Amino acid sequence: MKGVIFCGYRDYVEQAHGIVTWLEIIDRSELAESSSFIATDLYDDKILVELLTIGAELLDTELSELLRSFGVFLFPTLAGAASHHMDACDNVFDFLDHVENVIHIEVKKSDPTAYTPSLILDKVDDQTLLLKYTSHRQVCFLAEGLIYGAANHFNEDVALEHVSCTHRGDKNCLLKVTTK
Ligand code: HEM
Repeated sequence: MKGVIFCGYRDYVEQAHGIVTWLEIIDRSELAESSSFIATDLYDDKILVELLTIGAELLDTELSELLRSFGVFLFPTLAGAASHHMDACDNVFDFLDHVENVIHIEVKKSDPTAYTPSLILDKVDDQTLLLKYTSHRQVCFLAEGLIYGAANHFNEDVALEHVSCTHRGDKNCLLKVTTK
């Protein structure tokens, strides 16, 4: 996973729970070599999983909830990195389409070591979108948080339903996004 995600997690923990919590997570980690990460470097996915798992234990929260909050926090950073794209859309459904068909493709073009999830979209009607999330990393709850973050950006109120989830033994993760 790219360092930008690790830096985002560090910033999230520091801002939401304090630097002492972040240092405690690093202290308990067996895999992290230091408390700082470089945004453009590539790190083993296992390190992030470990840091997230320790964070959830320490904060006495579910991993899914931690990933969701982290995703909401991370969205403005990713949007900042794609600022030239943010004016291309004026609503969250069009933006998700833009992420899958333009932004994530550009990310991989400019950095062949990057891996982004597949987000297959099916717009059911003006208020409802089905999104099939596929990634070997299985961080569908991070995707949920990022979608809530995107909705905040476009001043929209969305409800998310995890219709099916690989963490519940389903074959795929299917998210139903409804605008209110
Ligand atoms: C709501 C919008 C978005 C969603 C749902 C989304 C989803 C995700 C998820 C879930 C991941 C984690 C990796 C995985 O699942 O395998 C990811 C990685 C990433 N995304 Fe997005 N993303 C969004 C917007 C953006 C934007 C605006 C950018 C701006 C450049 C971006 C760039 C990246 C990068 C750099 C990674 C890390 C790739 C790597 O570690 O190799 N994403 N995205």
